[in-house]
Amino acid sequence: CFSHAVHRRLKYVSLAVLVVQNASLILSIRYVRTLPGDRFLSTSAVVIAELLKLTTCGLILEWLRFLYNALITEYRDTLKLAVPSLIYTLQNNLQYIAISNLPAATFQVTYQLKILTTAIFSVLMLRTSLSRVQWLSLLLLFAGVATVQVQQQQQQQQQQQTQQGEQNYLAGLAAVIVSCLSSGFAGVYFERILKGTSGSVWVRNVQLGIFGALLGTLGMFWKDWETVRERGLLFAYTPMVWAVVLNQAFGGLLVALVVKYADNILKGFATSLSIVVSTVASTHLFGFHVDPLFALGASMVIGAVYIYSLLGRGPRGLLFVRS
Ligand code: C5P
Repeated sequence: CFSHAVHRRLKYVSLAVLVVQNASLILSIRYVRTLPGDRFLSTSAVVIAELLKLTTCGLILEWLRFLYNALITEYRDTLKLAVPSLIYTLQNNLQYIAISNLPAATFQVTYQLKILTTAIFSVLMLRTSLSRVQWLSLLLLFAGVATVQVQQQQQQQQQQQTQQGEQNYLAGLAAVIVSCLSSGFAGVYFERILKGTSGSVWVRNVQLGIFGALLGTLGMFWKDWETVRERGLLFAYTPMVWAVVLNQAFGGLLVALVVKYADNILKGFATSLSIVVSTVASTHLFGFHVDPLFALGASMVIGAVYIYSLLGRGPRGLLFVRS
């Protein structure tokens, strides 16, 4: 059975690691003890090694206790997080479909609709009140990012007329639209749990991650069982693919912190600004020119940030003024 197989594998892995570790330990002790110059205290090396083992086991024990508390003791909260977890897992899979089937700029424009879905879900689920000016600034933000992306697309089409691979535009579009709904709903749902209950953002992330890992694995086996069995889980993982996966994971933790310290709507402003900044950066790196359309789009985005945060003052603005 599965656990026997894992046990057997761990047996050989641990023995193999021990062979390498033991040989290298003896050689390295001999090496450091025969170097010219001051010699370290061997009694202190013994003490430090004990302290390191103690700390490692303590950390592992603490981690297990943390997991037990987060998952079992607070099982009700854990179950609540199954909802955003399922939705995020779907969204993360849909994004690969969308980006594989749509030109990058088209994906980015359409995905910015999540600014509006997030605002709508914030109003519905968190009873956020947005002034009319703030709604207008959200529309301006969307229009601004869309303009920047349309400009980018025009430029790229001029540069390369070719379309590589087999792409299904409609499937891509459907995937991105569902992603927008999912991003708004799951983001606000997570914000509601995070801010409405006492658990730390780390506990919430562990609860979210446990379901995400389980559901993601089920999805993977359901869709790609044959390939996983024949070629393995990490088939065709190049260093670049590792970089993508690490970036995705880091981005997820960053989103959690942004939602904790700011909120989902402000997150939309930050990512829109990052699109403008990265376009300017690529202008310098890859020699794109900034044309009037880009300047217009960028001004709309910056104007929207300004209007939302300064004119739409309130608890949801960037500048919170206590009255
Ligand atoms: O595009 P959007 O901002 O909705 O993407 C959010 C991303 O952050 C998703 O990939 C989601 O899995 C991740 N996330 C996370 N942990 C959270 C909240 C979101 O990993 N607590």
